[in-house]
Amino acid sequence: MSRREEARQVLRANDRGGYTVPTDRLYPFQWNWDSAFVAMGFATFDPARAWSEIEWLLRGQWEDGLIPQIVFHAPSDDYFPGPEVWGVGRSPPTSGITQPPVLATAARRVLAAAAHEEGEARMAAIYPRLRDNHRWWAAARDPHGTGLVATLHPWETGMDNSPAWDRALDRVPTATRTDIRRRDTGHVDPAFRPRAIDYQRFIHLVEVFCDTGWDPARMLAASPFRVADVGTNAILLRAEQDLLDLAIRFGTPEEAAEIAGRIARMEAALERLWDGRLSHYLARDLIAGEPIPLRGSAGFLPLFAGQARHAAELAERLEEWGRSVRALVPSTDPGHPLFEPLRYWRGPVWAVVNWMIAEGLRRCGQEAMADRVAGDTRGLIAAEGFSEYFDPLTGQGIGGGTFSWTAAIWLLLEGEEA
Ligand code: GLC
Repeated sequence: MSRREEARQVLRANDRGGYTVPTDRLYPFQWNWDSAFVAMGFATFDPARAWSEIEWLLRGQWEDGLIPQIVFHAPSDDYFPGPEVWGVGRSPPTSGITQPPVLATAARRVLAAAAHEEGEARMAAIYPRLRDNHRWWAAARDPHGTGLVATLHPWETGMDNSPAWDRALDRVPTATRTDIRRRDTGHVDPAFRPRAIDYQRFIHLVEVFCDTGWDPARMLAASPFRVADVGTNAILLRAEQDLLDLAIRFGTPEEAAEIAGRIARMEAALERLWDGRLSHYLARDLIAGEPIPLRGSAGFLPLFAGQARHAAELAERLEEWGRSVRALVPSTDPGHPLFEPLRYWRGPVWAVVNWMIAEGLRRCGQEAMADRVAGDTRGLIAAEGFSEYFDPLTGQGIGGGTFSWTAAIWLLLEGEEA
C-alpha cells in the first residue's frame, strides 16, 4: 500500500464519526490544533469530511468565542485530566484553555480545495465563529492591545514541556488537590514524556483557573504562568491574515477593517520578539518582563506569518542546526544543554511544525531551505510511518505510528510536490 493510502487510512481509523482523535487511546478526544491540520489533510481527498472536522470542533466553542484545547465528545478512561478535573460545566464537556489558532488558516485552505457551492455554504456558517474566536483572543489575552497575546498554560502553546517554559513554570506551585492519575505513561515510555513534577504544575494551573470560574479576565490576572509565546503569536497573525481574506468574502467591510487593524498591531509587536543577540525570535516571560533566552522551533514561525525581515538569518540558523542533526527541525536548539532528542518538545522533530516552517520559508523567499525541511519531513515519515514525533539525531519515530496530524502532513506535502 502506498504511503498516501496509508495516510488516508490512519485518518479514517482515527475518525470517531465526524471528528478525529489524534491517535487511539493516548489521546481519545478532539484536540484543537490537531483537528485544524487534520481538516487540511482530509481536504486533499474528502472535502466534505474536512468541513465536518471543523464543525465538530466548533461544537465545543464557548459563547465568549474561546475554542477549547480539548472537546470531550465521548467519555474515555484513557486520558488524564478528564472533564471532571476541568469542571467547566458545559456540554459537550471541554477543557478551559485553548491551543495555537490554526483553524482560520485551515478553513481557508479547505475552502480553496472545495470552492463549490457546498463549500461556500459551510464556510459562510463557520466564518462568524472564527471571527468571534479571534475577537476572544484579542479581548481575553491582549486586553490592553499590545499586539501580543498571552498564553496561560504550557498546554496552550501545544509545545507542552518545551525548555522555553522551564523558568516561568518554576514559579508555579506543585501543590494540587486533584489526585494525579496519569494515563499517558501507561501507553508510552515515561522517558519520552513530560516529568511528574511538570504534571503537578500543569494541574495546579488548571485548579487556579477553575477557581476563577473560568472567567478570562480573572484567569489572566491570577495565572502564575504568563508568556507571550512566539509560536502562538505567529500562528495567530497568520490566522488573522487568512481570516481577513474570509471576512472580505463572508463578512462585512467593518469586520475586515477591524481585522486589518489587529494585523498591523501584531506585525509590529511580533518584530519586538526578535532578539539581535541570539538572532532568533524569542518568547517573552510576561511576569518577569523579559525575553526567554532559548532558541526553539517556534522561533521560525514568524515566517509562516510572512515576517520576512530575518528570513535569511533564520535559514542560516537551520543550515547550522542541520549540521548537527540528521533531520530538521529539532524543537530545541541542538547545541543547547537542555536539548533532549527523545523527550517530547525538548528536542524531537514534529511534522506539523515542520510543515508550517517550510510554508513560511517558501513564503519568505527561502525556497532551498523550504525544500530541505519538507524533504526531511517526508523522509522521516517514509522511513518510520506516522509517528507522533521523531528523534532528530537518528530519525527514529517515537510515540506510536498512527498519528492523525502526521498523516495529514504527509498528504499536504504530497500535494505540494505534485
Ligand atoms: C500533546 C501535544 C499537543 C497535541 C496533543 C494531541 O499534548 O503536546 O501539541 O495537541 O498532544 O496530539
